Amino acid sequence: MLDKIKDLLEEVKNLTAASAEEAEQLRIKYISKKGIIPQLFNEFKNVPNDQKKAVGQAINELKNAAQESITQLKEQFEQSGLTSGATDLTLPGSAMPLGSRHPLSIVRNQIVEIFDRIGFSVAEGPEIEDDWHVFEALNFPPEHPARDMQDTFFINQDPDILLRTHTSSVQIRTMEHQKPPIRAIFPGRVFRNEAISARAHCIFHQVEGLYIDKDVSFADLRQTLLYFAKEMFGQDTEIRLRPSYFPFTEPSAEMDISCTLCGGEGCNICKHTGWVEILGCGMVDPAVLTNCDIDPDEYTGFAFGMGIERIAMLKYQINDIRLFFENDVRFLEQFRAES
Ligand code: DAH
Repeated sequence: MLDKIKDLLEEVKNLTAASAEEAEQLRIKYISKKGIIPQLFNEFKNVPNDQKKAVGQAINELKNAAQESITQLKEQFEQSGLTSGATDLTLPGSAMPLGSRHPLSIVRNQIVEIFDRIGFSVAEGPEIEDDWHVFEALNFPPEHPARDMQDTFFINQDPDILLRTHTSSVQIRTMEHQKPPIRAIFPGRVFRNEAISARAHCIFHQVEGLYIDKDVSFADLRQTLLYFAKEMFGQDTEIRLRPSYFPFTEPSAEMDISCTLCGGEGCNICKHTGWVEILGCGMVDPAVLTNCDIDPDEYTGFAFGMGIERIAMLKYQINDIRLFFENDVRFLEQFRAES
C-alpha cells in the first residue's frame, strides 16, 4: 500500500490541465468523495496496526499534495479570466453597435445641401391632401387617369381626401401662401396604388423644386439641373432634356443623365442607350400661377420633381426598391461610411 501511495504522490505533483474544466475533472478524480484519496482513507481500517502510523502519514501527505496541485491549476485559469462566472474587471467592455443613417435620408440630405448652395430653401406639406392641391390647381383635367381609384389611395370621397401621389402639391401650398420670388425644394413621402415589385413601390419619396420670379427662363432651369446632376453624380455627368408632357408645366421635359455606371458606353443599367432618366421638369403653366393668385404676365418659373429612391438606386447601384423599406440591418449597415 505504501508503494501505491508513493506512486500516487509522484503523480499528483506533476498534474497538468489545459482548462478550468480539466482541473475540475482532476479534483473529482482525486479528492471528491468517491475519488482515489478518500478511497484510500476507507481502506485504512484494514491496514495492520504496526503500519498504521506510516500509512496514515503517507495518505495525509498525498491528500495535501493533491489539494495544493489542483488549487494551483485552478487559480491559474481564474487569473487568465477563463473560468466561467468570474468577472475580470480589467477586460475592455463590449462595443456598442453604432447605427447608420438610412440611405434615403443620406440622399435626401445630399439633395437638400446641393440646392441650399444655390439659394433654395426647404419646405414640407401634408401627406393627406385634398383634390385641389394634388390635381385641380395643378391643371389635371377631370378625366385624368391619376384621379382614378386605380392610381390614387382615397381616404374619403366627396369631398375627395387622398394620400398625395406627388410632392407637386407642396408647390401649390407654397405659392398660395408666399409671393414671388420663391426658390424652394419640397422633399416628402408620396403614395400610389401600385403593385409592389423590384422597380415600383406604393410608398416612395420625391423632391420637388420650384423657382418663381421675374424673367425666369428655360435656360435657368437647364443650368440649375445641370449643376445638380454634376454635384450629385460627379463633374463628368452630362444631361439631356427630352420633350414630355405634364399638366402643370408648359413646355415640359424629362431629364436624362449620362449613365453613371458605363459613362455613356452602354450597359444594363442604361439599357445600352448611355442615358438614364432621373426627373420631370418644365416651365410652370400660366394656369397654375393664376390658380395661386400669381400674375403670369409678371412672373414666370420652373419646376421639377424627382424620386429619391431612383437617385439612390443609381448612386449606390441598388437593384431592388423593396430593400429601402425592409430595413434589414445587413443592407442598412453598408451605408455607415456615408454621411
Ligand atoms: N409630379 C411629377 C411626378 O410625380 C414629377 C414632376 C414632373 C414634377 C414635372 C414637376 C415637374 O414639378 O415640373 O411624376
